[in-house]
Amino acid sequence: MRKYKIAVIPGDGIGVDVINEGLKILETAKELHGGFDFEYTHLPWGCEYYKKTGRMMPEDGLRILKDHEAIYLGAVGFPGVPDHVSLWGLLLPIRKEFDEYINLRPIKLLKGIQGPLRKGPEDIDFVVVRENVEGEYSGVGGLAYQGTASEIALQTNVFTRFGTERVMRYAFELARKRKKKLISATKSNALNYSMVFWDRVFNEVAKDYQDVQTQVMHVDALSGYFILHPERIDVVVASNLFGDILTDLGSAMQGSIGIAPGANINPERKYPSMFEPVHGSAPDVAGKGIANPIGAIWAASMMLDFLGVPEAAKLIFDAMEAVTEEGKYLTVDLGGNSTTQEVGEAIRNKMRELV
Ligand code: NAI
Ligand code: MG
Repeated sequence: MRKYKIAVIPGDGIGVDVINEGLKILETAKELHGGFDFEYTHLPWGCEYYKKTGRMMPEDGLRILKDHEAIYLGAVGFPGVPDHVSLWGLLLPIRKEFDEYINLRPIKLLKGIQGPLRKGPEDIDFVVVRENVEGEYSGVGGLAYQGTASEIALQTNVFTRFGTERVMRYAFELARKRKKKLISATKSNALNYSMVFWDRVFNEVAKDYQDVQTQVMHVDALSGYFILHPERIDVVVASNLFGDILTDLGSAMQGSIGIAPGANINPERKYPSMFEPVHGSAPDVAGKGIANPIGAIWAASMMLDFLGVPEAAKLIFDAMEAVTEEGKYLTVDLGGNSTTQEVGEAIRNKMRELV
């Protein structure tokens, strides 16, 4: 039997509630599918841990994680700990050190959910491939003349040929498996070095994928296109910053931030990949048991797909969508009054029905 080693980091706030439900879903998938098993390492890292130890994770945290095939993460961040501390103390080191250079974000309106646009589930179904380790979030820069009137801040964008080419190849390969359409998000009119380079690499890589129809759009115009013509979009490739913004726009199009999943992938599988809901720790609803678990459950489905059990991944996805389509068990963010646990249970029951 195939055994997958998963590191589980629920993190803070609602991260704990939604990962709890996600784990129960994984157990049900295992039970119904058979043929694979999980070995979990539960890690209590995050802001509580920071308050006790002064660190978001132990000093050898990455070494502990490295020994796993995947990381299943809730959310980190809580009032009292500055957001740049929680981000740079856990999430970003994992993404960077494990070379999770692909951030994969499906933007898909589930059946039964009323999004904010006059568009249906058949119109909103695309994937954003975001570069996840360099570009605008390289962490290169500095401050000078601090505290004086001449103070300056520099934040340098780092685009390498290696990093740019590999994210584009990944996006082209993905487009090939879908509707063979790829949009590159650029801004080469204003960013006359980084994005002119980005466009050039895109055009070069495109020569190897003549069967994929390509389009290059400035990121500001593309934002409008998301809203006006989502049905024309199949796959989008974007830099770290542009992808970050575009995917949050995308998650809003899905009707609630509580639904959206994300995967941080090291395609070579040299290091663990990380699967997480897109939302944060939501201090405003934490501890109430009403957080939407769908983002975390969808992330679990993406994890199974990545690990090599696509049928189990599909079972989770189909059950999730059947529950939203029925509309009987929905959390508050979707206009219902079910608890986190009730939605999780409804999805598990649906899995048993559909299998
Ligand atoms: P957030 O995603 O936590 O919350 C934004 C709004 O959406 C809130 O009104 C919240 O109640 C609602 N919401 C989020 N997830 C929900 C769910 N599953 N069900 C129902 N409602 C949900 O973003 P916010 O408020 O900007 O950040 C809160 C904390 O989370 C901060 O410390 C931030 O740094 C951290 N954060 C962490 C992320 C991560 O770990 N990947 C991502 C985003 C934020
Ligand atoms: Mg974001």
